[in-house]
Amino acid sequence: MNVISEQHFRPSYHFTPRENWLNDPNGMVFFNGEYHLFFQHHPYGTFNGPMHWGHAISSDLVRWEEQQVALKPDELGVIFSGSAVVDWKDTTGFFDGKPGLVAIFTHHYHEPGTEHALQRQSLAYSADSGRTWVKYEGNPVLSDDRFIDFRDPKVIWHEETLKWVMILACGQTVCIYTSPNLKDWEFASEFGQNIGSHDGVWECPDLFQLSVDGDSSRTKWVMIVSIGSEPEFMEGSRTQYFTGEFDGRTFVHDEDSKRVRWLDSGRDNYAGVTWSDIPSEDGRRIFIGWMSNWKYAGLTPTEGWRGAMTTPRELTLESRNGEIKLIQRPVREFSTLRKPLLSLKDSTLADANARLAELALDSYELVCDIQTNESFSLRLRTSAEQETVVGYRPDLTELFVDRTRSGKTDFHKDFSGGNPIKLTTTSPNRVELRIYVDGSSLEVFASDGEAVFTNLIFPDSDAMGLGIVSEDHNAILHSLDIYLLS
Ligand code: FRU
Repeated sequence: MNVISEQHFRPSYHFTPRENWLNDPNGMVFFNGEYHLFFQHHPYGTFNGPMHWGHAISSDLVRWEEQQVALKPDELGVIFSGSAVVDWKDTTGFFDGKPGLVAIFTHHYHEPGTEHALQRQSLAYSADSGRTWVKYEGNPVLSDDRFIDFRDPKVIWHEETLKWVMILACGQTVCIYTSPNLKDWEFASEFGQNIGSHDGVWECPDLFQLSVDGDSSRTKWVMIVSIGSEPEFMEGSRTQYFTGEFDGRTFVHDEDSKRVRWLDSGRDNYAGVTWSDIPSEDGRRIFIGWMSNWKYAGLTPTEGWRGAMTTPRELTLESRNGEIKLIQRPVREFSTLRKPLLSLKDSTLADANARLAELALDSYELVCDIQTNESFSLRLRTSAEQETVVGYRPDLTELFVDRTRSGKTDFHKDFSGGNPIKLTTTSPNRVELRIYVDGSSLEVFASDGEAVFTNLIFPDSDAMGLGIVSEDHNAILHSLDIYLLS
C-alpha cells in the first residue's frame, strides 16, 4: 500500500513551494549577488486560486530560500505573470537616483458575477533588494480593451535604442511596446499572425539576444512563446521558439513560418522565461520553466504542495546539422552538488546491471554514453509493477520517454502519452544522455542539450530500482556515472 505523505514526490534539488500551489516562474532577476525567483502562487490552497507572487532567493541557482509573499491581489485584480528588471539608471524615479528592482506584471480583474475579465499591466518596486514591494500608484500603466488575453509582460533594456522593450501576449500574437521609463508605453509592432503554432492561446513570451556558436560577432534574437492547453491537443500546454532579428521595435523571424520548433519534447516544461540582468562577466542566458501542464496541473497527486520548477538551464544557440538550434544544459552550478556514487567505463550491460541492481534511488543524476545496434532502454524508478522508460531506436534515431507504467497516471487520460524525437548523433547507434531524476520528475538531455524531455512521474516510494535493457547483446556502455545531488 502506497501512502502519499507531504514529502512523498517532493523533489530535493528542484524548487517547490513550502506549501500550496505554484505555477509559472515570474520576475526572475539577478541583483547584488542574488538570483530572485518569483512564482505564480496561491498561498491558501493546492489549487489554482487567486494569484499572488511567491518569492525565493538563491546565491547559486540550486539552493533556494523561500521568502514572504511579494505581491498580493488588490482592487485592480489578482497578480498574474510578469517580469522584473534592475532599473540601473532610476528611469522610473522610484529610487532617488540609485538602482532598484521593478516588477512588471499583469493585473487580472474578474468582474464579480460576470464572465468579464480585464487584463492590464502594472508596476511594483522594491528598494530593499526584493524583500518588500510597493505597488505604483499610477497602476495600471498599460491597457487595451481590444484584447481579452493581454498578459505576461517580459521587459528588457534595449541598449541600441536606449529604451525599455516589453513583449506581451495578446491572444494569438505577441505585441511589442517601448518606453523610456517603464511607466509610459508606446506600441511598436505585433508578431505571430500565421506564424508558428496556434494550437492554444499565446502566453509568457520572452525575447533575448544570443551569440551563435559562442562567437560574439554573430548574434541572433530568440523569441520564446508558450501556448495554452486545448482539449483537442493531447500534448496540452507547450512552448515554442523562433530565431530572428530584432531592431528594438520589430522582430523578423528566420524560419519558414509553417515550421514549429518546440523547446521541449516532454510534457512538463511550460511558461518558462529567462533571468534578467545576469552580469556581462557571467554572460549566460538562464531559463527556468514550470514543471507541469495545464492539462492536468490541478490533478497531480501531491499532498500539501503542488507544482515545481524545472532545473535552471543555460540556453545557447548552436549550429547542429546545418541549422541554428536552441540548446539547453542544466546550469553548471549543479556540479557543485555532485557526490559520485557509481562510475563505470566500457562495461557490458550485464556487468552494469549487476552494479545497478545494488542501488535504490529516487533522486540522482545519471550520465551515460551507450553504443548499441538495437533498441535500448533505461528503466528508471522501477519496482515489480512500475518503471519509467527512456528508450532509443537506432533504426529511427528516435529517443522517447514512456511513462505508461511510471506510477500514478490515472488522474488524467492524457498524462502518460508522449511523442518521440529524432536525435542528431555523431553515429546513429551511439547516444549520450544526461538524466536528472528527482522525487516526481525526470529530465532527459540528449545529444549535448539538443533534445530535452521534461516529464513528471508519480512512482510509489519503493520504486527506486534502475537498469538497462537492450536486444543487442554486444551493446557497450562507454561510460555510466551516477551522482547523488545533495
Ligand atoms: C500561464 C498563465 C499565464 C498567466 C498565469 C496565471 O501558465 O496562464 O498566461 O499569467 O498563468 O496564473
